[in-house]
Amino acid sequence: MKIKKILITGGLGMIGSTIASKLINLGHEITILDAEIARYGGNHFNINEIKDKITYVKGDIRNKKLIDSLVIQKDIIFNLAGQVDYNHSLIDPILDNDINCKGHLIVLDACLRLNKDAKIIFSGSRMQYGKIKHNPVTEDHPMNPLSVYGANKLAAENYYSAYFKHYGIKSVTFRITNPYGPRAQIKKPSYCILNWFIRQAMENKTIKIFGEGEQRRDYIYVDDIADAMILSSFEDKTNGNVYNLGYGKSTKFITMANLIVATIGSGNVVKTEWPKNWENVETGSIEISMKKLENHLNWRPSISLENGIINTFNFYKENKNFYW
Ligand SMILES: NC(=O)c1ccc[n+]([C@@H]2O[C@H](COP(=O)([O-])OP(=O)(O)OC[C@H]3O[C@@H](n4cnc5c(N)ncnc54)[C@H](O)[C@@H]3O)[C@@H](O)[C@H]2O)c1
Repeated sequence: MKIKKILITGGLGMIGSTIASKLINLGHEITILDAEIARYGGNHFNINEIKDKITYVKGDIRNKKLIDSLVIQKDIIFNLAGQVDYNHSLIDPILDNDINCKGHLIVLDACLRLNKDAKIIFSGSRMQYGKIKHNPVTEDHPMNPLSVYGANKLAAENYYSAYFKHYGIKSVTFRITNPYGPRAQIKKPSYCILNWFIRQAMENKTIKIFGEGEQRRDYIYVDDIADAMILSSFEDKTNGNVYNLGYGKSTKFITMANLIVATIGSGNVVKTEWPKNWENVETGSIEISMKKLENHLNWRPSISLENGIINTFNFYKENKNFYW
């Protein structure tokens, strides 16, 4: 395989660092850009094993000059930098817009001016769909986001699509369901809730479930996300496409929480009332369709929830000091 020059923005985070580790093992040249914004999951320990084999740049995707210098000569850009916390997008919508829209336009604009051949991989979200009208959710399901985060991810997806249609800038968008796994931030419950529950169980605490916990979610392990994104970045037929990216099988919230407690052997689960503000952003049960991606890439996620929880637990047991 030809060695590619690859830029990963947000590369200190869970998904970006997992992709970086895999690409280094395949022999590619990696540059990581990360702003190290405290609220998110950027963590130097995430790239500890590859730090001597990559180029690391501390900086922000909103810095036009810096982005101009970084996109030049790159074959592939995993543009994963993001304001990831959808609750925070309702508290500070301007910040969400600044990073998730303007930041991504800056990268697109730099590619248009300086490197039209680069291919960009964008991480959108299931939050773009809003309330689920019908399951399984295929890519043509209506999109009525309930949060500013979802609205801005949808706007960014539309930028990528417009730049592909009008200027031929190659991109692939993934609408990711609920990711979890090693390397995620585990300091707060605002995103990667499954990781947060693992921490609660490890500390023998009570995991609180809103309502009866009957709502279904699709949990996808981070290595599956990384594999799908990497594969798509090397395949021309994915250019200009949007794909759902989940496990393709959903699980009740209560089942997921009970599984964590049973696997780790500590902690307990209790049911509590839904707080009002959470009902406003609750999307309802989701069963994602993975058919389009499976057909295009002949690939499907392979890490079951049971195995993913065990791997994640073992990772934090070993590396607790770097994440707590
Ligand atoms: N984790 C989820 O629940 C989830 C779900 C769907 C989509 N996504 C998307 O996937 C992408 C990666 O998320 P993750 O799960 O790895 O989260 P993460 O918090 O682990 O990583 C995000 C990284 O982006 C960096 N970053 C934030 N703003 C930046 C900026 N302006 N410039 C440069 N770097 C910046 C952060 O410092 C962090 O290292 C994000 O775009 C996110 O919106 C995440």
